[in-house]
Amino acid sequence: MKNYEFITLEGIEGVGKSTAIQVVKRILEEKGRDVVITREPGGTAIGEKVRDILLSTQNNEMSPVSELFLLLAARAQHLAEVVSPALASGKCVVCDRFFDATFAYQGAGRGLDISIIKSATDLISPFFIPTLTLLLDAPVEVGFQRIKNRGHTDRFEEQNRVFFERIRASYLNRARLEPKRFCVIDASQSLGEVSNSIELILQDKFDS
Ligand code: TMP
Repeated sequence: MKNYEFITLEGIEGVGKSTAIQVVKRILEEKGRDVVITREPGGTAIGEKVRDILLSTQNNEMSPVSELFLLLAARAQHLAEVVSPALASGKCVVCDRFFDATFAYQGAGRGLDISIIKSATDLISPFFIPTLTLLLDAPVEVGFQRIKNRGHTDRFEEQNRVFFERIRASYLNRARLEPKRFCVIDASQSLGEVSNSIELILQDKFDS
């Protein structure tokens, strides 16, 4: 499976992934690429239902292991229904979160054993490794401020700062360990500066 153009965006809440993903789409389309924008959890009818369960604040009693397997169920469906066919037909897939989020949120955040996450992740997606992962990084405080301005919070966003500090540290650590795949973008910059950073990265990766 050639998955040369599988791009993922990652980061803690409130770092501006939704805006950044549109910037990535625009740049790639300007380069003549056929782009599929998708997200996890979600991206399929089944996955979006699972997403609702995962994000609902009515499900605060959900155990971390249940959370992990719901996320993975949504991912398995997403890979089969969206990612795999799109890559096979030569499209460029840009996905809002993928397996790095599982290591960061369920591993560092929830405290699940990393080896369990790795085995479960390998079981459903051994061949799907992003070509490029853009990590939008900003201090937790910056993300929290932006979430507050949105007016409502989901089950993850209701977690405390310490939870997100662990997630941020985990993301940065993963980026440090895989410098070829990851590009870290300072998301505390202005929107224009973030767009410029993304543009520079994509020019470098896709024109060479
Ligand atoms: P989003 O709102 O940024 O799209 O993401 C929904 C939430 O799902 C976000 O709080 C992070 C969480 N999540 C995990 O905890 N583990 C995962 O593997 C994925 C993909 C998302």
